[in-house]
Amino acid sequence: MMRSHYCSQLNKTMNGREITLCGWVHRRRDHGGVIFLDIRDRDGLAQVVFDQGCAESFATASRVRSEYVVKITGKVRLRPTGAMNVNITSGAIEVLGYELKILNEAETLPFSLNEYSDVGEETRLRYRFLDLRRPEIAKNLHLRSRITINIRRFLDEHGFLDVETPILTLATPEGARDYLVPSRTHAGSFFALPQSPQLFKQLLMVAGFDRYYQIAKCFRDEDLRTDRQPEFTQIDIETSFLNEQEIMSFTEQMICNLFKEVLGLELSKFPRMTFKEVMRRYGSDKPDLRIPLELVDVADQLQDVDYRVFSGSANDPKCRIAALRLPGGASLPRKQINDYTKFVSIYGAKGLAYIKINKRANGIDGLQSPIVKNIPEANLNTILNRVGAIDGDIVFFGADKAKIVNEALGALRLKLGHDLNLLTCKWAPMWVIDFPMFKENDDGSFSALHHPFTAPKCSPEELETNLASALSRAYDMVLNGTELGGGSIRIHCKEMQKAVFRLLRINETEQQKKFGFLLDALKYGAPPHGGLAFGLDRLVMLMAGCQSIREVMAFPKTQSAADVMMQAPSVVDAKVLRELHIHLREIPKSE
Ligand code: AMO
Ligand code: AMP
Repeated sequence: MMRSHYCSQLNKTMNGREITLCGWVHRRRDHGGVIFLDIRDRDGLAQVVFDQGCAESFATASRVRSEYVVKITGKVRLRPTGAMNVNITSGAIEVLGYELKILNEAETLPFSLNEYSDVGEETRLRYRFLDLRRPEIAKNLHLRSRITINIRRFLDEHGFLDVETPILTLATPEGARDYLVPSRTHAGSFFALPQSPQLFKQLLMVAGFDRYYQIAKCFRDEDLRTDRQPEFTQIDIETSFLNEQEIMSFTEQMICNLFKEVLGLELSKFPRMTFKEVMRRYGSDKPDLRIPLELVDVADQLQDVDYRVFSGSANDPKCRIAALRLPGGASLPRKQINDYTKFVSIYGAKGLAYIKINKRANGIDGLQSPIVKNIPEANLNTILNRVGAIDGDIVFFGADKAKIVNEALGALRLKLGHDLNLLTCKWAPMWVIDFPMFKENDDGSFSALHHPFTAPKCSPEELETNLASALSRAYDMVLNGTELGGGSIRIHCKEMQKAVFRLLRINETEQQKKFGFLLDALKYGAPPHGGLAFGLDRLVMLMAGCQSIREVMAFPKTQSAADVMMQAPSVVDAKVLRELHIHLREIPKSE
């Protein structure tokens, strides 16, 4: 081995020792007779000093530039007091270098690793191998590795078997578009890349494996956001003979154990709330419980008011009127309220009514609002009492289709929380339970809210009569407003599975064609089973304190689902297409 130590292993106790480092020149400072090189390796920095006492290495040190790869031998010595650097682990010492070998040179990088902030993400991704040299990014991958090792160990200790499932497979309905791979050997046919290993893991339960896990790549062709990538990783889990309570407790324990062992943090017990409750209180099925603001229903007080926007919504069962109290918000300037009004309009809200409570004791005169004149004082008082408004507060209102109000005020709640620094704690994990089985589409048809293999809480007969209100045995784990994982107890009876397919308007022929293997498997002794999958990238993102999952993936794709480094996807030769039996309608122009 060329090196004797990594930079971060150097400390005061090694004073006087000879060591050899291998790494990159992170920074070079020439102070006339002395040259300082900050050497960077996998997990740290160390300062090396060259002086004219050793002419040959001093000459080499004058020649090296940023990002040269070097091997250095020298002696550890304590830094003079005042010259210590508390930001790096080797900050109490420096190395007096007497041998310096250039292992490779480097051209000037397309961007500096120190001043990265003004570099566009496209450039960073184009040169990801350089971007990953930045300690800030590299440390995320180190954390990610510690997280997966911890999870693997935990699952292994609890009897879970790691099984790999195919990547070339059939479509799995998880609600996104599929990535397709043309088959050469079956003209005109395509494989789909898995949106998740869902059906395979269920089949492993039918096969009797009892406890399965996999750290699995999933592929979904969907609109990208900061917490979504076309290719991402799940910690995928399935068990037999456990109910939802047991699966939730077990996986909660797994996450608590992870936080404790990797971050040294104790998470408290996760509260559980029904879907209905979270939608009512937070307007979201993944509420951020760090923010102490809540939506409160007030439609019952506004049915007869002399303001059509409110009375109209108050009398329409598909609508909702909710109030959101912001303590101390009466001092918000007009401009900020206008900005928030513009903000909620992104979600379709047609306005953002508000009441500033200047002095409640003064009745209507103590309130400042564009709407109070239209609301009878008794109703107004009931509303203000219900939201707990006191002097100095502002109360916002949303009136519209329930979906719009939930999205608009739900988003406003988050924005206020962050803008005004209202977060009450650092970590707020929770479970959302009792999801509806189905969601209604605009054309009146229904689709599965989770996936069509999720068991309902009722019998097939009850399900058919209560399509819109039927609940499922699904659960989501939510952390700080991010859906970290989701799962359910599955259907293990053929008749129930067929009933659900029927309700989703998948006819007999299609059932056989798409899911014949599953219906077969359910015939031959399928055990009761269930599980869940965590989004590993999201978990690492939260634990690393990052804003985007791209920061915790080694080679993420851009917003338009491309790899700008490899230049993928790419055009392929006509010959290759012919072998794949593909004829392009319009050949893309190659550059
Ligand atoms: P679901 O579709 O909820 O469930 O996915 C599980 C978790 O995977 C993460 N996730 C994503 N992460 C990054 N980019 C994406 N595009 C993306 N899509 C999903 C989320 C999500 O909570 N088979 C079921 C699980 C089960 O029922 O056991 C499934 O895939 O964190
Ligand atoms: P207008 O009737 O348009 O003058 O609006 C009076 C107040 O009600 C303004 O503060 C609007 O922002 C607000 N407003 C209008 N429509 C809605 C709505 N659908 N929900 C909540 N507030 C609204």
